[in-house]
Amino acid sequence: MNNGQGRVNVMANSDFRRHVLDHYNRFSSCYDWSEFIRRETRRRAVALSDYQPGEKVLDVCTGTGELALTFVRRGADVVGVDIAPEMLRRAAAKQSSARPTWMVMDAIELAFASESFDISVLSLALHHMPETVQWHILKELRRVTRKCLVIVEPNPPHNQCLRNLWAFGASLIDESELLYAWAWQDFNRTCSNAGLKIRQVEATTFGLFRITLCDPDH
Ligand SMILES: C[S@@+](CC[C@H](N)C(=O)[O-])C[C@H]1O[C@@H](n2cnc3c(N)ncnc32)[C@H](O)[C@@H]1O
Repeated sequence: MNNGQGRVNVMANSDFRRHVLDHYNRFSSCYDWSEFIRRETRRRAVALSDYQPGEKVLDVCTGTGELALTFVRRGADVVGVDIAPEMLRRAAAKQSSARPTWMVMDAIELAFASESFDISVLSLALHHMPETVQWHILKELRRVTRKCLVIVEPNPPHNQCLRNLWAFGASLIDESELLYAWAWQDFNRTCSNAGLKIRQVEATTFGLFRITLCDPDH
């Protein structure tokens, strides 16, 4: 996977990053309309993380911050980062007794020291990215995380005949151009290549989403 040219490949994907920025800055106001579909999965992600009071949590590609806020409501000290300032503006406008720290930052290069966080979470962002970019982000998450990583992504069907159909349907409601690649990607292998050890994989919300729980395995 890492052929020593990873950095070059990431830079070659700057078009993709421009597309992400354009899209999320423009559509940030609509993003939370479908939050009701994701709510149960977010609660389950917090439960699987085995969060303990006082632990530090990083939410990468936090978007409008719903997963970060789910941790904050349980008393966590949370940092939420995203490259799209408009998404973060929406997050910051939400009422909450305690507040995460919101930072504009590219997940490919996290400005945090190694093992700064007990738990890192990443939700519904990797399936928009080429696998090389996913790999870089997972490596960064591994570096900054002490205890566990929780990754939430769409869950393509196991049945191979249904996968392209799933990708077609999903592409009607999801802006990603990479859903066919995602449908066929061996994500467990991507995690292993990034040095993560998979502890548990669980489908949630009628199989729409998949939570992958990993150890950073330092
Ligand atoms: C579909 S939204 C998911 C938001 C949120 N995690 C959730 O679960 O609702 C994807 C988010 O990933 C962000 N993103 C994409 N690439 C990124 C990168 N390289 N670094 C930081 N954020 C990124 C986008 O700006 C967008 O807000």
